Amino acid sequence: MLPQPKIAPSMLSSDFANLASEAKFMEQCGADWLHMDIMDGHYVPNLTIGAPVIKSLRKHTSMFLDCHLMVTNPLDYVDELVKAGASGFTFHVEVAQDNWRELVRRIKAGGMRAAVALKPGTPVEVVFPLVESAEPVDMVLVMTVEPGFGGQKFMPDMMTKVNTLRKKFPHLDIQVDGGLGPSTIQQAATAGANCIVAGSSVFGAQDPAGVISDLRNGVEGAQASLSFFK
Ligand code: DX5
Ligand code: ZN
Repeated sequence: MLPQPKIAPSMLSSDFANLASEAKFMEQCGADWLHMDIMDGHYVPNLTIGAPVIKSLRKHTSMFLDCHLMVTNPLDYVDELVKAGASGFTFHVEVAQDNWRELVRRIKAGGMRAAVALKPGTPVEVVFPLVESAEPVDMVLVMTVEPGFGGQKFMPDMMTKVNTLRKKFPHLDIQVDGGLGPSTIQQAATAGANCIVAGSSVFGAQDPAGVISDLRNGVEGAQASLSFFK
């Protein structure tokens, strides 16, 4: 089965003062998931939102809330995010070397999808055990910028990581995050990414629905022509 394209606008680029209406707008524009960047001001030099905001937003949307935790102690956030109504929980492997099994177990026990992210400087081999485990992660997020801020430039060098993962795990959900838009989707999709996060390229566009559909077409086009998807 082909890994489904999942287009996830990053709400970090939305108007946080109007989060509910921004979320509705993204749904109307054809988004599959909403990407929620949770930063603690410690793991990354930026502070954003936490479980209380997810809980508030959950009252206004039934969409999949794809939470990307850029925090030093991800385990501390699992229970609160379950209660808040989060749908997916992505932790960074750099801060989970010692407890990723417990993290995955608790994320899944709470009814969320579990995913692992890696920063640009982290070798891809580090996440193999998490995908090959008896209780595996559901998705790997390959960061294509240094985590912390929207609007940065896509790092094409990261595509070797995506390609390595795709060849090894043909059915895995592989997400890319950072600098994705109509001008970079081709590289990401050809390397094998199927879950696409995009913040500034969607919210900064004249036609956000058009950008979301370009991203989806990029993934579908690459899947149709690449042998490892067949
Ligand atoms: C960066 C965040 C991203 C960010 C992407 O640390 O993880 O989700 O919002 O923004 P763009 O698409 O503008 O690079
Ligand atoms: Zn993110």
